Amino acid sequence: MQVKRVGVVGCGLMGSGIAQVAALAGCEVIAREVTLELAQKGLARIHGSLAKLVEKGRLKAEEADAARARLKPTTSLADLKDCDLVVEAIVEDLDQKKRLFAELGKLCKRETILASNTSSFPIGEMADASGRPERFVGLHFFNPVPLMKLVEVIQGRKTLPDVVAAARSFGEACGKTPILAKDTPGFVVNRLLVPLLHEAVLMVERGDATFKDVDAGLELGCGHPMGPIKLLDYVGLDTTLSILEGWHARFPSEPAFKPSELLKRMVKEGKLGRKSGRGFYEWEGDKVKG
Ligand code: 3HC
Repeated sequence: MQVKRVGVVGCGLMGSGIAQVAALAGCEVIAREVTLELAQKGLARIHGSLAKLVEKGRLKAEEADAARARLKPTTSLADLKDCDLVVEAIVEDLDQKKRLFAELGKLCKRETILASNTSSFPIGEMADASGRPERFVGLHFFNPVPLMKLVEVIQGRKTLPDVVAAARSFGEACGKTPILAKDTPGFVVNRLLVPLLHEAVLMVERGDATFKDVDAGLELGCGHPMGPIKLLDYVGLDTTLSILEGWHARFPSEPAFKPSELLKRMVKEGKLGRKSGRGFYEWEGDKVKG
């Protein structure tokens, strides 16, 4: 099955990135948000990103124009009913996701593949809620979606092999390298990355090193493009905390998943990282200040 028409539910940072790469792949994209204002905000983010890619010579102006023309905003979930693939990228709230998939499972055509971009929730639970677990798959993109070259394809226990194959081909058409992951907490990348970011916070909390030295350590010693504390700011302290809290609730005996007091305190204080302008670092848009 070739994916030609794609629905994206949630047009925030991840959803708009997914809509963008799908449109660049030649798919017709319907981007659904709860209000038209939010949908337009998502589209504006896509237009900004496409303009930046053209400015940097990574994309031709005609390709960007063609991608823009393939994107349609909507507030109606019913507009997604004829899509070949619907990718969910709403807030990380399992109950909300399950409710959404139950609705999509009822209204979409029989062949539609449903996919979640969840960072850490079990694919199987959402698959069952959709009523079509055999046509359900995880498609986990990375931030910033237009630049990061990976997509994780997560095969649920009941996902059909041709659905996995279609999801992989879609990821490749979007310019990504797919890796296949089982439905385990955090799949491949976040199972490794989230504990790394969290260990870095624990190190700072204990006073073992300053946050800047922790970052310099992994940037200069291991060639990471961003040290773990900067990456934590970039991803969002709230996002990381909610992943840890979800895992801690499910696996209370795993010490690596118990959120640190410093992380909890910073989130409470609104220091969420890049998105709030302040985390460990101060941010101006996409860049650390100073
Ligand atoms: N679209 C288009 N252009 C973008 C962009 C986007 N979405 N985001 C950033 N850019 C631009 C920047 O504005 C910058 O332009 P400028 O040079 O004109 O200012 C340009 O891309 C590249 O920036 P730089 O050359 O300054 O920066 P880098 O070469 O360091 O690349 C980076 C930036 C790709 C973000 C790099 O720092 C990096 O790879 N960081 C790690 C990111 C990462 O690990 N992401 C995964 C997070 S985990 C995740 O997403 C999972 C989730 O479930 C939690």
